[in-house]
Amino acid sequence: MPHQDPHSCWTFGSAQIAHVDLDLTVDFDRQVIHGMADYRFDRALDDVLRLDTRTVEIDDVSAGGRPLKWRLEGETYLGRVLSVEGARGLNALRIRFATSPSAGALQWLTPEQTAGGKLPYMFSQCQPILARSVIPCQDTPAVRFTYDVLLRVPRELAAVMAAERTEVKQEGNHTLCRFRMRHPIPSYLFALAVGNIASQRIGPFSCVYAEPEVLPEAAWEFADVQRMIEGAVELFGEYIWDRFDLLVMPPSFPYGGMENPTLTFLTPTLIAGDRSLVSIVAHELAHSWTGNLVTNATWEDFWLNEGWTVYAERRILERLYGVEFAHLQAAGGRNDLLAAFKNFSDTPQYTKLKTELAGVDPDDVFSSVPYEKGYLLLVEIERATGREAFDRFIASYIRDFAFTSITTVQFVEYLARQLPEAAKRVDLDRWIHQPGLPESAAVFSSNLIDEVRTARARWDRGERNLHDVVSGWNVQQRVLFLEEFPACLTHENCTHLERIFDIERTRNTEILQPWYCIAASSTYDRVFPAIREFLGVVGRGKYLKPIYRALHENPKTRGMARELFEKFKSRYHPVARSAVQRILEK
Ligand code: BES
Ligand code: ZN
Repeated sequence: MPHQDPHSCWTFGSAQIAHVDLDLTVDFDRQVIHGMADYRFDRALDDVLRLDTRTVEIDDVSAGGRPLKWRLEGETYLGRVLSVEGARGLNALRIRFATSPSAGALQWLTPEQTAGGKLPYMFSQCQPILARSVIPCQDTPAVRFTYDVLLRVPRELAAVMAAERTEVKQEGNHTLCRFRMRHPIPSYLFALAVGNIASQRIGPFSCVYAEPEVLPEAAWEFADVQRMIEGAVELFGEYIWDRFDLLVMPPSFPYGGMENPTLTFLTPTLIAGDRSLVSIVAHELAHSWTGNLVTNATWEDFWLNEGWTVYAERRILERLYGVEFAHLQAAGGRNDLLAAFKNFSDTPQYTKLKTELAGVDPDDVFSSVPYEKGYLLLVEIERATGREAFDRFIASYIRDFAFTSITTVQFVEYLARQLPEAAKRVDLDRWIHQPGLPESAAVFSSNLIDEVRTARARWDRGERNLHDVVSGWNVQQRVLFLEEFPACLTHENCTHLERIFDIERTRNTEILQPWYCIAASSTYDRVFPAIREFLGVVGRGKYLKPIYRALHENPKTRGMARELFEKFKSRYHPVARSAVQRILEK
């Protein structure tokens, strides 16, 4: 039996929410959602029911019209526990509540922060432990429930959810939508967005949702989605979520992508105009199996979600774009991993795959480690057993654990049963419970990587006429080249890089981010206006963190980092805001 999830008050083995009926009204003026939740449990409750909440106001709790006694207890980073008394024997109860304008999962955007500039926008980001700021719940990935929602939003706006939409109608000042999630999901996959949202079909089971202003380019960018689905189905088995739609968010969305079931949320920075960044779509799609079907039981087992998904993502990319391309991504991932090790040099415990997070906010230790070290472990197992056997293992792993949430221990036991030889040959204890990277970890080679290393050697010999070489490269090669540079360059070398990479013309944020870091560390002030503009618009943590870190670490730009953060922080999503805040406090 798994142990206690350190981030939820729910205890393993106690009654679980099986279904919730939600009636939600989104109030943009006050930036709150008013809610009524009817919960059904999988068995009769004990005397006291405890639910996770955070910054949620409770109006009342009742069962069959009879009020129940409740109180909110504690006040930590986990929020407050709602205790309901006199619940013994009940299978259902109702809670009326309201979210707070400071709800950690919700971001309320002014019209200026949208592409259209005329209407407001609101979206949720519940992973890992923020669903409790939207609805009182057992906010642990170990509990799964189905749900129905009646959602009321201002008449001129549209609503989408990570669920099937069954009805839309206008009523007075409101648009009313009904949604249904018929598969049991963990709370972190609950998701909604409200704004001026239109849609366009891009495949038999897929459409893109976005503000009308960005819809055509978004539909073009993600046109490969059906081929990705076909590749993923071959690897993992049936796609059970009916639809795979994409929602392109406003630029303040804090992540690259979020695998909300049936409706993946994506940053608009993926719209590069050349389909060069679509690997994130493969990643979020892969979560439909690894994460959304087979779920990590706690955030200490997060590598089971992300390591598996990176592995799957690269298998899909290999099928679609070839092994060289997949290896190039893996090489980039290895660099990210080494960078994460460096950031964790004082806290090496966070470089373990299985982490211990009692008292620690998972957002505070979010890094590439579960992604890339998890990926490398799975590659090591694959290499120990051969791809064919490993593919059979993948298929049975998904089948046997679908709709369950599992711990690292369960994974290891299953591996030992299914692939006993590989489980013996791979030093699982070293991989899972020790910090750092085992010597045996795969190193990737491909012509694409060799080209980058050759060009780098030429640069180191003093050659600067590399424009023609670089212009033949794909985006990932360019990123690899830039990332492997020493942070601080002379202004002359910065100017060379600018020319070699056609920086003035590039809109690709994957290239701009490492470039801005070099410019910041080198106090190359010509680029500062562009950096200011970028930080004022883009809220994606993956970009904000390294750029603010570079500005902060250079004594000459430290003041600028603070000034820009003060100016822009209200535009960032709460998770991105606190991530940057932590960097600036170091
Ligand atoms: N599920 C994650 C995003 C996430 C992780 C949100 C933890 C909150 C807490 C998503 O699948 C993801 O990994 N996104 C990556 C992109 C991916 C290609 C590595 C991102 O946003 O950068
Ligand atoms: Zn992921």
